Amino acid sequence: MSTTAIIGSQWGDEGKGKIIDFLAQNATCVARFNGGANAGHTVRIGKKTFKFHLIPSGAFRKNIKLILGNGMVIDPEALREEIENVKKENPSARFYISDRAHVVTARHMELDRKSEEAETQIGTTGRGIGPAYAEKMRRYKAVRMADLQDKALQKYLRDTSQVINSLIDQGENVLLEGAMGTLLDVDHGTYPFVTSSNTTVGGACTGLGIPAGKIDEVVGVVKAYTTRVGEGPFPTELSGAEGKHLRQVGNEYGATTGRPRRCGWLDLPMLAYSHRINGFSWLVVTKLDVLTGLRKIKVCTDYQKDGKKAGFTPLLTEMGKLKPVYREFRGWENFPSDSQMKRGLAALPKAAQEYLAFIEDYLKVPIKVVSYGPDRKQTLVIS
Ligand code: IMP
Ligand code: MG
Repeated sequence: MSTTAIIGSQWGDEGKGKIIDFLAQNATCVARFNGGANAGHTVRIGKKTFKFHLIPSGAFRKNIKLILGNGMVIDPEALREEIENVKKENPSARFYISDRAHVVTARHMELDRKSEEAETQIGTTGRGIGPAYAEKMRRYKAVRMADLQDKALQKYLRDTSQVINSLIDQGENVLLEGAMGTLLDVDHGTYPFVTSSNTTVGGACTGLGIPAGKIDEVVGVVKAYTTRVGEGPFPTELSGAEGKHLRQVGNEYGATTGRPRRCGWLDLPMLAYSHRINGFSWLVVTKLDVLTGLRKIKVCTDYQKDGKKAGFTPLLTEMGKLKPVYREFRGWENFPSDSQMKRGLAALPKAAQEYLAFIEDYLKVPIKVVSYGPDRKQTLVIS
């Protein structure tokens, strides 16, 4: 019985959707705390692939309770459509939408696009996220779900803080779903190339109305390499054949916009920073299989600035000066089949085991789950 926050440790797209769907098999409730339809969570079950933007992952688990928290900004039309799609597949799912989540309208989306053209060029998803949060903070013109006279959605509106706290108090397993990743956090990310919400664990408290002390575990989801979509600094970015390998093999295209994602090596100083902000209890490493076939795999272990060792900082003015220092690992040619993977960690090529051990040792956080493919079944739990 626990309350577990699932947090993206990089720039989003770490594969949180799949992991939450996997962990939701033992959960009563999944509660999303930030963002809006900018998110794209892909869940594959058998031959079917689903993409969610607003509804928490885990929506196909029997009797699952799905909370959309007050920290979110919701496009009501997009939500109605997603709810209908989930209901067709899983009539037992229950929806609880915060009456104080903010509403995103077509006007916000237009403002988002105009601002991208004329002002900021952040490379947003165009879903109106920035303008909706700006109006929330400005307390002007903002509309909340409770203000919306929407006959279809009205029946789902709740004081969701009350719903989630009472589930936690009853000892239910509750998952807190973060959207995007730590380096996209409006306070802790690579500002201004960030999203407009708190994607880190603090956002779970404010975005759902739960006390910090009720969060038992914080899980960091780490992709085995790094990707970023949109503009902004990316020290370990790869431009050549290796970057192409990661994009093609990893199918690194945005789930919301279809944009090709920028790809690069794993950045451990950045992950250490992410761990500092979130306090990860344990890690999930995703997409390990994607590294298969690379002759050499590099990992950034340090930074140098003006010839001297430097720590990671998300400050834009500093980041451009950081030069990654790499450690090289040998690659592996073949990845074990799904049935071979039933043997557990020992089934992995030695080089892959070394890679995982290095991450654990560097961050001093245990890896408890490894994902090696998009299907639910392609998930290794390390006991
Ligand atoms: P916005 O959230 O649409 O305002 O976009 C701001 C930045 O966050 C852009 O760089 C987007 O590409 C990025 N972003 C927003 N949502 C996601 C996501 O779900 N995955 C990855 N990047 C995202
Ligand atoms: Mg995504």
